[in-house]
Amino acid sequence: MTANTKTGPTRDEVQAHRGASAVAPENTLAAFRAAAEQGARWVELDVALLADETLVVIHDDSVDRTTSGTGKLATLRRADLETLDAGAWFDPRFAGERLPTLSQVMAVLGELGLGANIEIKQHPHHRSLDQLVDAVQRDISQHKDVPVMISSFDPDALKAMHAREPDLELAMLWSELPADWQARLAAIPARTIHLNYKALSIGFLEQARQSGIKVRAWTSNNPAELGSFWDAGLTGVITDNPKLFLG
Ligand code: G3P
Ligand code: CA
Repeated sequence: MTANTKTGPTRDEVQAHRGASAVAPENTLAAFRAAAEQGARWVELDVALLADETLVVIHDDSVDRTTSGTGKLATLRRADLETLDAGAWFDPRFAGERLPTLSQVMAVLGELGLGANIEIKQHPHHRSLDQLVDAVQRDISQHKDVPVMISSFDPDALKAMHAREPDLELAMLWSELPADWQARLAAIPARTIHLNYKALSIGFLEQARQSGIKVRAWTSNNPAELGSFWDAGLTGVITDNPKLFLG
């Protein structure tokens, strides 16, 4: 092993997936605080619109899996968030957690000194991509102290965000690596790929590095499975459990 061999991520290269969701209920303030306690510098989170255009931090398009209630986001408004328990399903210790708005999360990330990887997910109830992206811009522009990057499986979401905020880092999300990944990436403003860790290879990472493309792996909860990829150019990991990567 040479002195320059890289065997793991730095703190800046570890992102807590939906917060530290291995130890706290995903996409809640408790999970984001746990990420900071574990030493991560970034959190990944998912956003969606409610009926009144509130941006809420949640993965699914309904509250059924991650709260005490039921219902599609399309039927809910800001005030309804106060009636839903978003913590007890995970562990009774977290009873009383709420589904946070993006604005609430950004305020807490500012206090914690964390950055936000905001994943823009399209759901069937969203009226338009513009409505969704405008809401993201509205909320991040009120919290300029928080470093932000935007990720999405939807290249159009990245293009729309770039038109509004040209300086933001944009990450294309892929579950599998398309054979024509270089052509696809060249067609959008993103210079970062967030790839399912199962689709990583040394050859791809070396190609990406030569092209100046950053690559982060999701969602890995086992440092051993990324071992040789750091030295090949991997530039980050998105994990439910940051402390596994940070010792
Ligand atoms: O950031 C990558 C990862 O969050 C994408 O998958 O389903 O957890 O949003 P998902
Ligand atoms: Ca996500």
